[in-house]
Amino acid sequence: MATGLPRHVACVMDGNGRWAEQKRMPRTEGHRVGEGSVVDVIETSHACGVKWLTLYAFSTENWTRPEEEVEFLMRLVQGALRRHAPWLHLRGIRCRFLGGDDARIPPSLARDIADIVELTEHNTRMTLTVAFDHGGRDAIVRAARTLVRDGIAEDAVTEEALASRFQYPDTPDVDLVIRTSGEQRVSNFMLWQVAYAEWMFPQILWPDFRAEGYRACLEEYRRRNRRYGGLDRIDEMEMI
Ligand code: FPP
Repeated sequence: MATGLPRHVACVMDGNGRWAEQKRMPRTEGHRVGEGSVVDVIETSHACGVKWLTLYAFSTENWTRPEEEVEFLMRLVQGALRRHAPWLHLRGIRCRFLGGDDARIPPSLARDIADIVELTEHNTRMTLTVAFDHGGRDAIVRAARTLVRDGIAEDAVTEEALASRFQYPDTPDVDLVIRTSGEQRVSNFMLWQVAYAEWMFPQILWPDFRAEGYRACLEEYRRRNRRYGGLDRIDEMEMI
């Protein structure tokens, strides 16, 4: 693995609606074209050796969007799963869904999700987590409930004890979060796992992000690492 490559990258895929509005198209068109950036980011991560990639596809708050948009997003994700499952599996990518036990997820999509999770569960080259019906606070509450259910004593409640009760406790902390479109908000995304992450807010709308925008972020991460990691450590060593 190349030096300075993030182990876990997470993307908040923002700006699909604005992309479409700028082109006087329906907002859903932005989501449809955004699938191209999804594919590029997965392929680039796979090619570069990023081992963990998480994509924020649908939040617990997104249920409040207009019904047609929610339905469109459900159909888009289902179509994407069907279209891309074979190549994801062929490339050794394990697929997981973070969140998503909401009864509002259409049953046929829930079945397709279960199918791709099962198909790819033994793959080891890379893990793609789709945060779907995800909320960071909701995930913390669920983990806390499990602690209580397990009868953990007060002084045994530690960060490790809580972290081990998340849906996928083997997922490493996020190293780099990329939120496209220039918006600078956390939006309830993986609150526990992003505690030490580097953040980037490229001024590019998600459909235009593509492989080029993603590679630029990986480069920037490498530079940040060199400045704040290696050199600082050398400076500290020289002072001793
Ligand atoms: C945010 O843009 C984007 C979403 C809520 C959906 C993202 C989903 C995809 C790109 C679809 C494909 C996903 C997979 C995993 C196959 P926005 O609508 O909030 O944009 P705006 O802020 O400009 O309105």
